[in-house]
Amino acid sequence: MWNKIKNNFSHSKIFIKEIIVLSIVFVLGVTLIFHFSLHKVFLLIILIVINDLIFLFVLGKKRAVEISEIKRTIKNIRKNKYKSPHEIKMSKSLLDIEGNIKAMFRRTQRDIEQMEKLEQARKEFLGNVSHELRTPIFALQGFLETLLNGALYDNKVNKQFLEKAFHHSENLNALLNDLIDISMIESGQMRMSFRYFDLKPFLNDIYKEFKEQAEKKGLKLEINGLRDKMKVYGAKDRLIQVMNNLLSNAIKYTEKGKIEINVEEKRKSVLIKVKDTGNGIPQEDLDRIFERFYRSERERSKSIPGTGLGLAIVKHIIEAHNSTIEVTSKEETGSEFSFKLKKAW
Ligand SMILES: Nc1ncnc2c1ncn2[C@@H]1O[C@H](COP(=O)(O)OP(=O)(O)OP(=O)(O)O)[C@@H](O)[C@H]1O
Ligand SMILES: [Mg+2]
Repeated sequence: MWNKIKNNFSHSKIFIKEIIVLSIVFVLGVTLIFHFSLHKVFLLIILIVINDLIFLFVLGKKRAVEISEIKRTIKNIRKNKYKSPHEIKMSKSLLDIEGNIKAMFRRTQRDIEQMEKLEQARKEFLGNVSHELRTPIFALQGFLETLLNGALYDNKVNKQFLEKAFHHSENLNALLNDLIDISMIESGQMRMSFRYFDLKPFLNDIYKEFKEQAEKKGLKLEINGLRDKMKVYGAKDRLIQVMNNLLSNAIKYTEKGKIEINVEEKRKSVLIKVKDTGNGIPQEDLDRIFERFYRSERERSKSIPGTGLGLAIVKHIIEAHNSTIEVTSKEETGSEFSFKLKKAW
């Protein structure tokens, strides 16, 4: 009982100073206005003290109830007793605090979900990386082992096996480069040096590089819409990577017909398109091809080489140019990837 009373008073302690000041002002005011005798002043002080004590007691009690309600709610949150913010209910006088606690709860829930997603993504990434590394390493080991076990002296196969082993080591190298790129981009460490550059020589060089590769597969490679002195703003080295990925995809996923690099000049930008007459991309895959490691089932089942990192890298690079990569595609007809670059004046 005594403890409870003490507890209630202790919760109203913070108001004591104000109440004493107010009471003194009141007593002084009343005494002066009504010319009270000493006797009456004494009675007034006793009344005021009793009044203040009752006031402090009631106030303390109310605060004690409120504080214990807040404590209980926080404890419940700590013990994970609430599944949703709607389960948090407090008395009417604490409506404002209830709102704040709910907002905090929602925020924490979102942060935890985000962290869980990141953790999941990290695990998936590691899983994918080890899976993708295994393929070329096993192939490489296989060929080297066969050579060591005697094939080295068999002139009919030794060169072919060495070439294959070399090819897989190249794949491994390309894969590692892509992995380094994607992790650098995602951790914000990829350096990009932006400047204005002339688009014509830039695209012509890339065109020359891929022309032969396309022709080897019986495909035509065209470049249209380029004019002299067409300056665009971008990170040239990274845009080479973008074009390399888009063109090697176009060649890889096209069996007959042609591939076009089309350039369209707009008022403030230049639109660059890579169009092919290939297998196209199934509608259900269109939204996902820019995710890292995503490859359509068709490619997996045909065992066309690739890791599904190319377009993820392209997307990151284009977005770093404050632009977006767009795709339209029709199965059996072909695909078109496009992005805009800012044009100089
Ligand atoms: N021009 C295209 N025509 C048809 N399908 C395409 C084309 N470009 C991309 N795709 C589809 O999108 C998927 C993802 O492409 P992405 O370039 O990211 O990976 P990849 O080519 O499979 O492997 P890599 O990491 O070697 O580039 C491909 O597996 C393929 O299914
Ligand atoms: Mg690719």
